[in-house]
Amino acid sequence: MKNLLKLLLLFFGLTLFACEKAPEEVTDVSTLRLVWNGDPTTTASIVWDGKTKTDPVIYFGEKDRGRKYKKYPYNQKPYRTLGYYDMNTQYIRLENLKPGKAYYFVIKDSEGVSERYWFRTAPDQAEAFTFVAGGDTKSSGDALEAGRSSNRIVADLRPLFVLFSGDITSGNGTDPENWKQWLTDWHTLTTTSDGRLIPVVMVQGNHEGGNMANLNIIFDTPFQQNDSSSVYYSWSLGGDLFHLIALNSQIEQGGKQKKWLENDLITHQTYTFKIAAYHKPIWPHTSRKRENEYLYKQWAFLFYKYGLDLSFDADSHMHKITYPLRPDSLAVDSLMGFIRDDQKGTMYIGEGSWGAHPRPADDDKPWTMASGSFNQFKWLQVYPQGENSEAHIKIYTVITADYDKEGKLHTYYEGIEPLNENNLFNVPAGLKVFQNEKGKDFVTYPYH
Ligand SMILES: [Fe+2]
Repeated sequence: MKNLLKLLLLFFGLTLFACEKAPEEVTDVSTLRLVWNGDPTTTASIVWDGKTKTDPVIYFGEKDRGRKYKKYPYNQKPYRTLGYYDMNTQYIRLENLKPGKAYYFVIKDSEGVSERYWFRTAPDQAEAFTFVAGGDTKSSGDALEAGRSSNRIVADLRPLFVLFSGDITSGNGTDPENWKQWLTDWHTLTTTSDGRLIPVVMVQGNHEGGNMANLNIIFDTPFQQNDSSSVYYSWSLGGDLFHLIALNSQIEQGGKQKKWLENDLITHQTYTFKIAAYHKPIWPHTSRKRENEYLYKQWAFLFYKYGLDLSFDADSHMHKITYPLRPDSLAVDSLMGFIRDDQKGTMYIGEGSWGAHPRPADDDKPWTMASGSFNQFKWLQVYPQGENSEAHIKIYTVITADYDKEGKLHTYYEGIEPLNENNLFNVPAGLKVFQNEKGKDFVTYPYH
């Protein structure tokens, strides 16, 4: 009897100990991603695979409380859970955040408390910021490693956000292992050394086409007309400094989407900078890809009419940047319906190769500023109007990897001096930059 009592006491003691101890365990949230889907000055989506764990809650606030979750003033539970691709995906939408602020958070679940992470909301007033734009990653081999190099350089640059123009995994976007690998890579490699999550803004590519709702499933992106396959949306930051339009080249580009685009461009016509992103380039700069005349007819004229400044595409797995262009199929010196217009034209920037194997750059046009065959993304520095300077954007082409004549991959993430929160604009030592014009590390828009 005495022994039984001892055993029972030991059992209850251990259970109590386990209950108290559990929150101190570090719960694994290695697919955690922060997404900008709506107004980035006040909202953020936080999405991750909760695996077999239960009762997830985010604890957050403006002060860094480390992993002491009870000390954070706010908490919130996921608003939905979905079971696609062998994941138990949790979706949290933070709203009513303050613009231009740092927020710290942990996630607590039945297994413990996560590491402490933090993120920034976008400013609602005109101030300088940087962002990264690119697209096209693959799920194996050298292309996977090249993409990882790009991811690591994102963490070094600490941009305000990353604009990713589609084609995320190999295949058609329904392979659970490919998704888990991409999400884990994204989380572990783009998160900064002090735990800052870099927001991603997602655009639909053809490799997500196995389920046209994939962007909503994986990134909680918004959609139009109550149809989860109509993923296109827009948001603004910095007051009227900057407006971003995420289009979808993988569904009907005319019709409802065209109408929506025109309406969105009209609504934001007075914004200083308006940019659009989509996956398929209108006229690819490699001969291995088909021309997209339909896209040209649906969107290029609207871009020009309403003063779109920059257009971002991907898909071809290479680098290109054009002079500012006006669509004009009738002008004698136009080619493929475009003519250079430095005053009012749209600059077309692309074409993928975040990780995917570079294709030959063998299809330049008279209005192409530069193209190249290497792994890359664009790093953009956006400056509002100053006392003695006009509003402008500096565009850097960052080479993240390339292949030598023997076909051997070389990556360029090592040896970069990482930026910090007080220095987000100086080109870091060791960053490999491509010169689009001889002797110039960056292209300035407006282009003079
Ligand atoms: Fe593609």
